[in-house]
This record gives sequence, C-alpha cells and structure tokens, in this order.
Amino acid sequence: MTELIEFKLNNKTVKLNVDGDRMLLWVLRTNFGLTGTKYGCGEGFCGACTVLINDKAARSCSISVRSVKGKEVTTIEGLMKKGKLHPLQKAFAENDALQCGYCTPGMIMNAYGLLKSKPKATYEEIINEMENNFCRCGAHKRIVHAIQTESVEAK
Ligand code: FES
Ligand code: FES
Repeated sequence: MTELIEFKLNNKTVKLNVDGDRMLLWVLRTNFGLTGTKYGCGEGFCGACTVLINDKAARSCSISVRSVKGKEVTTIEGLMKKGKLHPLQKAFAENDALQCGYCTPGMIMNAYGLLKSKPKATYEEIINEMENNFCRCGAHKRIVHAIQTESVEAK
C-alpha cells in the first residue's frame, strides 16, 4: 500500500506516494532519477549507496523511505553548487582517487559525513571511517590521500 512521504532531498522539499517499505536507494534512483547513488551489494556491506541523512552517512540500500520522513537526505548530486564541484569532489579528481568510479559517490558521501562531524579528521580517523567502503579497483590509498587534503588537520 502506498503512503504519502515528505522529506528534504538536496535542500528541496519533496513528496511522493510510495510503498513506505521501498528502500531509499531505489526511490532515489527510480523516482527521482538520482543515479549517482549506486547499487553494490544491496545488503549494507559495501557503501556504494551511501548518502547523508540529517548530515550522517547512511546506507540507502538498507533504509526504508518511510524512515526518512521529515528528514534531510543529501546525495552526491546535492554537493555541487552553482555548477561547481564541491572541494571534496575536486580533491578526488585531483588526486586520481578513482579508477572505474563506481564506488566514488559512496566514498565521497562517507568522507563528506566524516568531515562534517570532524573537520580535522586525522589519518587514523579517516581510515576507520572509510574501511567499510569497498573499492574493487584498489584506489584506497589515493582515496584516503584525497580526503586528507580536505581535512583541516592536513592543511
Ligand atoms: S549497496 Fe548499500 S551497502 Fe552495498
Ligand atoms: S574506483 Fe572502481 S570500485 Fe572504486
């Protein structure tokens, strides 16, 4: 059965009639066309589907759309402002922190969540936060380096 669900998505209030048990990942990708959020394992393990919910990183494949009612959801598409990449997106590009790019939106959103709560994240804190986001291409070193360049601690 469908229900009316309202939440904030990338700074805009959105409403939709949807099965509340539907996973947020599929609502983002199919109802809103926000395909930057990726499907990896579908079971909460890989981090490809990471978005921010009320400024905290969360795995959208394992969260029902009902549970974001009244909350604020940010996807990778919400980072760019006025056609300009977010500094963290730039840091990934400048540090070659990707190969195929499939894991990249989830990596950036997870790192964005970390730096929001800990702008001076240390190397160890970055490793701890990122170790459960998987990159099959093995770009982890460059990913961590890119995040370090955006951590106030590293500047
Ligand atoms: S697709 Fe969500 S954690 Fe893997
Ligand atoms: S860059 Fe290919 S999976 Fe990470």
